[in-house]
Amino acid sequence: MPDLKVKLGPLELRNPVLSASGTYGHGLEMCHFTPPERLGGLVSKTVTPRPRPGNAAPRICETEAGLINSIGLENRGLDAYVADTLPTMAGADTVVFTNIGGESPEEFADVAARLDAEEAVDALEINLSCPNVDGGRLPFATSPESAARVVALVRAATEKPIFAKLSPNVAGLGDIARAVEEAGADGVTAVNTLLALSVDWRTGQPGVATVQGGYSGPAIKPVALRCAWECARSVSIPVIGCGGVATADDVLEYLVAGCTAVQLGTACFADPALPGRVVADLDRKLAEAGVATAAELIGTIADGRPAAGGSRDAHLQEAAR
Ligand SMILES: Cc1cc2nc3c(=O)[nH]c(=O)nc-3n(C[C@H](O)[C@H](O)[C@H](O)COP(=O)(O)O)c2cc1C
Repeated sequence: MPDLKVKLGPLELRNPVLSASGTYGHGLEMCHFTPPERLGGLVSKTVTPRPRPGNAAPRICETEAGLINSIGLENRGLDAYVADTLPTMAGADTVVFTNIGGESPEEFADVAARLDAEEAVDALEINLSCPNVDGGRLPFATSPESAARVVALVRAATEKPIFAKLSPNVAGLGDIARAVEEAGADGVTAVNTLLALSVDWRTGQPGVATVQGGYSGPAIKPVALRCAWECARSVSIPVIGCGGVATADDVLEYLVAGCTAVQLGTACFADPALPGRVVADLDRKLAEAGVATAAELIGTIADGRPAAGGSRDAHLQEAAR
């Protein structure tokens, strides 16, 4: 049996498959579809300091090859998360990431400080796509300075590993990844949704009430994969890939592009049992290809740079021919 374990900075994951924030419940809602102990980790929906009702409906719209959403970070707030969700997570035999949000760097830091004391939380993922209320509501993820400021304050507020979730809607993603690494992130998640629009030409009605929304699903995989690769070649901390993943082959592509772990999002709406099956398929595909460990594939893309995880074996080269 191939060894699926990966080392994600200070964390050991039993396999590289994680859920993506906002698409797989908030806690253990999906555990009857895939037991947590089958997964590398679970990522919560974004938790903000205060409850948020989210945006007006419609908030989700299907397109030809993906989904546009504008949920607006609906959640019951930090108090409810700590009181109601975390106690149920304590027994979950997997790595638990809490994805955090805020309207200012200080709010992110406050949430991080509060969660620092919570044993059920293994790591924080920082949703830098939250709008910066003091910065013209531009997402923190859109400049190296604002992204780094959030990460630096969160770093000072917690001992837990922190992962900065970046946005694809930027120029110079590598510079932003480097800025959050310098600010103390243990890793980077690449990426959140792509800005998108759908409209019914007959009625003029946009697909979501906020007019523009975040695009996800199979259509974004090549874009997100490029983003993840750009991050991986820009930083020395681990990268978690995210965007359009639906199969074990997709996961393996992200590993080869330089990611250490991979999140499954929109694909889980159609099939909530998918993450468990992807893990089983990973085992089978690696065994068939004669690859002993998932880790040895990391960063083995032939882009002229040395691989992070290992060197590409001759038999894999042969299989690709
Ligand atoms: C309905 C929906 C809700 C989401 N909510 C969050 C969220 O609360 N926080 C966050 O960081 N990302 C959120 N995301 C983004 C996903 O975690 C992921 O980055 C994105 O959907 C791309 O991956 P995918 O193509 O596999 O879905 C959400 C995505 C969707 C579709």
